Amino acid sequence: LIIVGPLVNADGPVCPPKPSDKLSRAHFPKGFLFGTATAAYQVEGAVNETCRGPSVWDIYCKKYPEKCNGDNGTQAVDFFYRYKEDIQLMKNLNTDSFRLSISWTRIFPHGREENGVSKSGVQFYHDLIDELKRNGIIPFVTVFHWDTPQTLENEYGGFLSAHIVKDFREYAEFVFKEYGGKVKHWITFNEPWVFAHAGYDVGKKAPGRCSPYAKDETVKGDCLGGRSGYEAYLVSHNLLNAHAEAVEAFRQCEKCKGGKIGIAHSPAWFEPHDFKDEQGGATIERALDFIMGWHLDTTMFGDYPQTMKDIVGHRLPKFTTEQIGKLKNSADFVGINYYTSTFSKHWEKPNHAEPKFKQDSLVEWKNKNVNDITIGSKPETGAMPVYSKGFRKVLKYVKDKYANPEIIIMENGYGENLKENDSVKNGTADYNRESYLKKHLLSLHEAICEDKVNVTGYFVWSLMDNFEWQDGFKNRFGLYYIDYKKNLTRHEKVSGKYYREFLSEGVRPS
Ligand code: NOJ
Repeated sequence: LIIVGPLVNADGPVCPPKPSDKLSRAHFPKGFLFGTATAAYQVEGAVNETCRGPSVWDIYCKKYPEKCNGDNGTQAVDFFYRYKEDIQLMKNLNTDSFRLSISWTRIFPHGREENGVSKSGVQFYHDLIDELKRNGIIPFVTVFHWDTPQTLENEYGGFLSAHIVKDFREYAEFVFKEYGGKVKHWITFNEPWVFAHAGYDVGKKAPGRCSPYAKDETVKGDCLGGRSGYEAYLVSHNLLNAHAEAVEAFRQCEKCKGGKIGIAHSPAWFEPHDFKDEQGGATIERALDFIMGWHLDTTMFGDYPQTMKDIVGHRLPKFTTEQIGKLKNSADFVGINYYTSTFSKHWEKPNHAEPKFKQDSLVEWKNKNVNDITIGSKPETGAMPVYSKGFRKVLKYVKDKYANPEIIIMENGYGENLKENDSVKNGTADYNRESYLKKHLLSLHEAICEDKVNVTGYFVWSLMDNFEWQDGFKNRFGLYYIDYKKNLTRHEKVSGKYYREFLSEGVRPS
């Protein structure tokens, strides 16, 4: 199996002539991949099938339904049983590729091989991958999308403990050997920043722990543990070492030769809150160091950004020389999940102040309209501020800072709560999502064809509405509407039609 990438020459990506009016895939470099993305717990359901063991999300939503909008992934959108049908939806959309994640506890129900391997769980992903390939859809596989085995959480605190490094490597190595002959694109971890921040700073995602300094008032008194002020740093440290070990295993795996591996990061772009602020540029850099460099500098250069070392001080764990050696160049591409942007403002840390996790960056993040830049927000709709220019800027920033790496957009999409009048009719009339995609595909095109950023693929989050973590089924992201009231039937939305038509033009890469 050879990976054929998009056309590139010495000047960067080779683009067809500029679009005159309507942008379509025909204007992107030949061989560029377009797809949709999902994650196991959000779509599969069937949590007790194949002897699957519980993950932290199963337990968290069962014990604290109010933290999951009263919903859970027990049935999710039934992808486990309907994947064949859903692959036809992917084909219908004219997509080339599909990003899925493997549920750790469907492979090792209790986290480790010695505790048992689920043969039928292993078989499920073979069947899924084979069905994708039979239909000409290229699988991209995430090894870990937040569903830590509950057994490991109980045993040693999951990612809070360095024990996770060995266990993650064992699990990753197992899936590489099992599927590495058929899957050539791998993502070790999804959004390490969100995992650490939401799970261990503001208590908004499993396992719901908090730091005492979380700025977010809503989590006060509503915390399931933590409060040390450095757990997010510890969790990230263990996660990064686990990533480096997994990548070493991947590069040693015979079957995996010719494959690529990386992490999916979740940067926002930042605009200066005040143009006159002399710190403006530095503030943005600092914010980016904390939201992306934290995990990206590490896998490129082998260590945390200097700003983090300076600001976080002794609470930031240190890597050994051996760990640095393994981390350095441990990503073949940079995965980017881009959704939104915000403003950043320099914040002077008062003397003797207790450290604050989010503000460790000495940056305040704000969502306001300033300096004639509108990063508009309608919080009651559950939508994030839309700013497609930020997408292009993030990509250019990554190109310049990390010496022009290959970049893959692992997620981009628009979430919205439906009001009381949630119905197939209203839910499929998603003009806001259509407009969001149009704008972001245009920015992506500019980044590739004008800024010559080496982006090789783009995935919409998500193929269909699904279990949106703390927002349950309320916040919808899909190109297909799921009718939760009527047997989870799938209905193409206006945004789905748009993506299908955008992709119908031009030559498919396979
Ligand atoms: C990022 C996460 O990877 C995914 O799980 C989530 O559903 C989307 N963003 C939307 O919030």
